[in-house]
Amino acid sequence: LLVLGRMMLRGYAMMGDPYAKVVTKSPFRDPHPGYESIRAQGDMVWSRLGGWVTTSREISDSVLRDQRFGVTPASEITPFDSTLYGRDGRVLVNPVEDSFLLRNPPDHGRLRKLVQPFFTPRALRERKPMIDKIVDEYADALPERFDAVDDFAVRVPIQVILELLGVPDADQDVLARWGSAIVATLDGIRTMKEMRELNAALAEFEDFLDDLVEQRRRTPGLDVVSHLVMNDDLARDDLIATTELLLVAGFETTVNLIGNGIMAVMANPETREPLIEDPAYAELFVEEVLRLDPPVHYTVRFAREPLEAHGVSLKPGMPVILLLAAANRDPDTFADPLRFDPTRSNVREHLAFSAGIHYCIGAGLARLEAAAALHGLFRKFPDLKVAGPVKRRSSRLLRGAIHLPVSGTPSK
Ligand code: HEM
Repeated sequence: LLVLGRMMLRGYAMMGDPYAKVVTKSPFRDPHPGYESIRAQGDMVWSRLGGWVTTSREISDSVLRDQRFGVTPASEITPFDSTLYGRDGRVLVNPVEDSFLLRNPPDHGRLRKLVQPFFTPRALRERKPMIDKIVDEYADALPERFDAVDDFAVRVPIQVILELLGVPDADQDVLARWGSAIVATLDGIRTMKEMRELNAALAEFEDFLDDLVEQRRRTPGLDVVSHLVMNDDLARDDLIATTELLLVAGFETTVNLIGNGIMAVMANPETREPLIEDPAYAELFVEEVLRLDPPVHYTVRFAREPLEAHGVSLKPGMPVILLLAAANRDPDTFADPLRFDPTRSNVREHLAFSAGIHYCIGAGLARLEAAAALHGLFRKFPDLKVAGPVKRRSSRLLRGAIHLPVSGTPSK
C-alpha cells in the first residue's frame, strides 16, 4: 500500500508497455514495471547487485555531468574474462573497453576530438542528401510484404557507416553481420556461441581495418580512417578501437530507433498523416520515440573518489546505474509520461543519448537517419501494417525489434 500510495502521489499510472499491443510474440519481458517499482522506492535505490540505481531524470542528468564520476570497463558487467582473443591466439582490440566510450579524461577528450569533425552540424547538412537517397532507394525497392528490420531499418545505418569509413561499395551484409556480433561487447556476452561469433567478427573487422589503414596511408580520402591516419601520434590500437566504436555504437542503436519508430506509428495511427506530410513533425516524432521507447535503456557511472551525492555516500569504484529509459518516463519532468505526444513542449529533454562528456556523438546523425527513414517509408506505404509475429531483442541494454513483418500498398 505504501508503494501504491507513493506511486499515486507521483501521479503515475502503471499502464504497462504502450507498444505491447503491436508486439504479438515476444521473448522480451517488458522492463518498465520493474523500473516503476524501483521508482516507487525512491530516487536513489540500493541494488542487490551492489550499487545505486536511479530512475530520476534530474539525478541521472546530474550524475552524467558530474566529473567526480567516470566510466569503467565493460568487464564489470560481463561474466567472462574481458580479454578478447582471435582464433590464432592474438589479443584483439576491444571496441568498447579500448575506445573513448569507456575512457575517462584526459584520454576521452583527446580521442573524441579526432572524430568530432564528422559529426558537426555542417557535416550532417552535407550528409543529408546521401541519407535521403539511401532511404528512397531502399523504400522504392520494397515489395508489398517485407521485414521492416532486415529489409529496411538495417540498410540505412549500415550504408551511412560504410560512407563514413569511405567504403560505400563494401559488402553491407558482411558489415551488418560484424556489427550484430560485435554489439555483444556492449550488450554483455551471454553464451560461448556469442563469444565465438564476437571474436571471429572482431578478428575479421580488425583485418579489414588494418588493410583500409594501409590503403588510406597511400591514398587518403575524406573519410574517418584517412583523417585518423594523418595523426602520427595516434597508436594503432586507438585508431582501430575508435573506428570500430562507430560501428558498435552507431549500428544496432539506430536500427532499433527506426524499428521502434515504425512500431510507434502503428500504435498511434493519428501520427501517420503529419509524419508523411511534414518533415518537421517527423523530427519531433523521432524525439518522442527516443523518449518513450529508447534503443539504449541504461548506462553506468562509477565514483572516482569518495563522495556524497543525492543523499548517499559513495566509495571509489561504487557504481550508479542510470536507468535512462525510466528517466525518460519520470513524471516530475514529463507530464502524463506514458502518453505518446510528439508535440509535448519538453520532448527534447529525454536522456536517450545520455548527457555530459559522453553524450552520443552520433545523436544528430541518428536523428537525421531515423526521421528520413520513417518519413520515407510511410510516404511510400501510407497504410503499412504489421503482418506477422514481431520478435523483440531479448536484451536489458538494447531494446528494439529483430523481426518486424509488415505489409502495405505502395503509393505511386
Ligand atoms: C555514445 C545512444 C547512434 C556513436 C552514446 C551513448 C548513448 C548512445 C546512450 C552514451 C553512453 C554513456 O553515456 O555511457 C545512441 C542511440 C543511437 C546512437 C540511442 C541511435 C538511435 C549513434 C551513431 C553513432 C554513435 C549513429 C555514430 C555513427 C557514439 C559514440 C559514442 C556514443 C562514438 C561515445 C561518446 C563518448 O563516449 O564520448 N550513444 N547512439 N551513436 N555514441 Fe551513440
